[in-house]
Amino acid sequence: MTETAPIFRLLDVEKVYQIDRGGWSRLRRNPPRRLAALDGIRLMVRAGDSIALVGESGSGKSTLLRVLLGLTETSDGRALYRGDDIAVLTDEKRRSFQRDVAMIYQDARASLNPRLKALDLIGEPIRQHALCPEPELRDRVAALLARVGMPADTADRYPGQLSGGQVRRVAIARALASEPKVIVADEAVSGLDVSTQAQLLNLLRGLQHEMGLTLLFITHDLAVASYLCRRIAVMYLGRIVETGPTKEVLRHPLHPYTRALLTASPRFFEPIAETLPGEIPSPIDLPPGCRFAGRCRRQIDRSRTVASTSRRSPRRAPVAKSLASTR
Ligand SMILES: Nc1ncnc2c1ncn2[C@@H]1O[C@H](COP(=O)(O)OP(=O)(O)OP(=O)(O)O)[C@@H](O)[C@H]1O
Ligand SMILES: [Mg+2]
Repeated sequence: MTETAPIFRLLDVEKVYQIDRGGWSRLRRNPPRRLAALDGIRLMVRAGDSIALVGESGSGKSTLLRVLLGLTETSDGRALYRGDDIAVLTDEKRRSFQRDVAMIYQDARASLNPRLKALDLIGEPIRQHALCPEPELRDRVAALLARVGMPADTADRYPGQLSGGQVRRVAIARALASEPKVIVADEAVSGLDVSTQAQLLNLLRGLQHEMGLTLLFITHDLAVASYLCRRIAVMYLGRIVETGPTKEVLRHPLHPYTRALLTASPRFFEPIAETLPGEIPSPIDLPPGCRFAGRCRRQIDRSRTVASTSRRSPRRAPVAKSLASTR
């Protein structure tokens, strides 16, 4: 089987925020502190891939997606879309990028303009890319609404008149409106009741199969990751600590952090007698050495001092080939 050309490639991407110390520190002219939101990320996404990004709050998942979408500049390294640097796309390539890659945001309600009806929210990408004449817009929007299981008269409602689950459906319909090849979704189904969540997951999986969509999906729920995504990337403090086929990684996790995450999903896999102590540390001015050392049950002395292990995912040969790009 021949491998398709990569759609996205992240080459040692770093994103550092300078945090102003404020107060007296500012008067004393102390240098700002460094918050490493992404640190040496390498990732390859091919057409038709479905990749779940998992990890605790603050591990850098949304930042990674924002870099992929060109919404956040990298501090170092490069983010490529079909071989072109996303930060410097020509106008023509940026237009086709915006059409091909659609986003479902973490907070669907906040991402939709409350003053626009669903007709205009879903119609916006259609108009922007001139995908149909104006008189046909309503029919086109109705077809998209039907696709996400909503009646045609939803088109005349504002986001404030819709439930949480309905807002998510409208956000998905809007994401589909430009006929994208890639969908990037940040917590698209979290915070919903179980049955609405299941409906939306079925919808996304159906769309993936029907349209051959490439999917990048952030979730805190490993069961969701396993249902929807063939591959998984586990993030911790700005780094991908483990990648591979979802089922394999979840059945045989190699990194102690992945093992600890699994304890949160005992309903899904056999519980592992290992819990995750403490909270994710602040990513500001991190000390050298393995970032997970302070919470690692194994407490391997070596991991407290050797940084190199922490930048690479544990060895899982076929995985490293498929997800992490070679230099
Ligand atoms: N604009 C910003 N300025 C400063 N720090 C930021 C900014 N955006 C994100 N961060 C920090 O970068 C780190 C990663 O944030 P990010 O939003 O990517 O995490 P996340 O994995 O998506 O978390 P969650 O699961 O809670 O959504 C966090 O420590 C966050 O506070
Ligand atoms: Mg996030």
